[in-house]
Amino acid sequence: MFFGGKIFLISVKHFFHCKFTQHSSWLVVGLIMISEYFEQLFEEAKKVRENAHVPYSQFKVGAAFLTEDKKIVVGCNVENAAYPQSQCAEASAIGNLISQGFNKIMEVVIIGSGNLLSSPCGGCRQRLREFASLGTPIHMCNVDGHLKTSTLAELLPDSFGPENL
Ligand code: THU
Repeated sequence: MFFGGKIFLISVKHFFHCKFTQHSSWLVVGLIMISEYFEQLFEEAKKVRENAHVPYSQFKVGAAFLTEDKKIVVGCNVENAAYPQSQCAEASAIGNLISQGFNKIMEVVIIGSGNLLSSPCGGCRQRLREFASLGTPIHMCNVDGHLKTSTLAELLPDSFGPENL
């Protein structure tokens, strides 16, 4: 299946119950874009989420990006006593991405807190727009597993990006 110039494979196991203890065969079953890197991205996001500095909201978020050369870059949210100076997990991960010499985001896992969908805030959707493609899958998860996948274009329709300048 072609999407955004890349082939994404789907695991039925991930799709239905999101437990990743064993490897199963990869099947293409629809427009759900979960690659073979999902499990690693999920584990890294879950790990970095534990480092979140959240004394004010208690709401830990971890983000993991897959780079073009299949490296994983992570970030967590960092709050501040002057609340507006707080930083989202996605923003931290973007800082790390650039600091480590990468500049393309191929796939994203975000793990929030609780059971409701932790989708990226408006500001972070725009931040992702700078380094991801419109077809980049963004997997929204909680600590127990996958909840929903949307492309960046779905989260940020009619967006303004670098090519608009
Ligand atoms: N948060 C993120 O890290 N990413 C988002 O996209 C949404 C919100 C953080 C910010 C704050 O530290 C906490 O979640 C509660 O809003």
